Amino acid sequence: MIKHIDLIFATGNQNKLLEINKIIPNNVKIISLKDLKFSDDIPENENTIEGNAIYKAKYIYNKFNTNVFSDDTGLEVEALNGEPGVYSARYAGEACDSNDNINKLLKKLKKKKNRSARFKTIIALIIKNKIHTFEGIINGEILKNPIGENGFGYDSIFRPAGYSKSFAELSINEKNIISHRSLAIKKLIKIIS
Ligand code: IMP
Repeated sequence: MIKHIDLIFATGNQNKLLEINKIIPNNVKIISLKDLKFSDDIPENENTIEGNAIYKAKYIYNKFNTNVFSDDTGLEVEALNGEPGVYSARYAGEACDSNDNINKLLKKLKKKKNRSARFKTIIALIIKNKIHTFEGIINGEILKNPIGENGFGYDSIFRPAGYSKSFAELSINEKNIISHRSLAIKKLIKIIS
């Protein structure tokens, strides 16, 4: 018999939740922070993506004492020595949104020939009191201007290698075939099933 597993996803980001809910198998039930009526901001003060992912998972585990996973993601741009990286969410400043972050990044890249970049996700899972981490990376390029209406964050300026469309021009299912997040979550699924 297939075992049923409940897993809290420690995120307030509804886009991440949508993407992951489309990949996760039927025997796994994702419980969102919204389902738990938990809306506090979880601090992201570590200086690595992995550190933040582990911190977020532990933070929620300590509150609810239930199996949990978190996702921390960064966009790493080669010509900017890996910036914005762990600072991707607040690249243009604490009170800024994704448009401000994109504008800052495009400005910094204006005179650069090398537009190579990658998205990196680390998923941290705490299950049966043990921590596991899973990495997902996708390589691509930063476009000169935003294109596409789907997705979130930096999707409109990232074109995955081998594709002619930005992430924001792909549907969730198309993005899920190749994305950093889906690569990491598929590793998690392997471990729990
Ligand atoms: P965090 O993982 O929620 O801290 O996200 C860091 C930053 O990267 C935020 O600005 C997000 O909007 C952005 N981000 C996270 N995942 C993705 C993605 O899959 N595509 C585009 N931007 C993303």
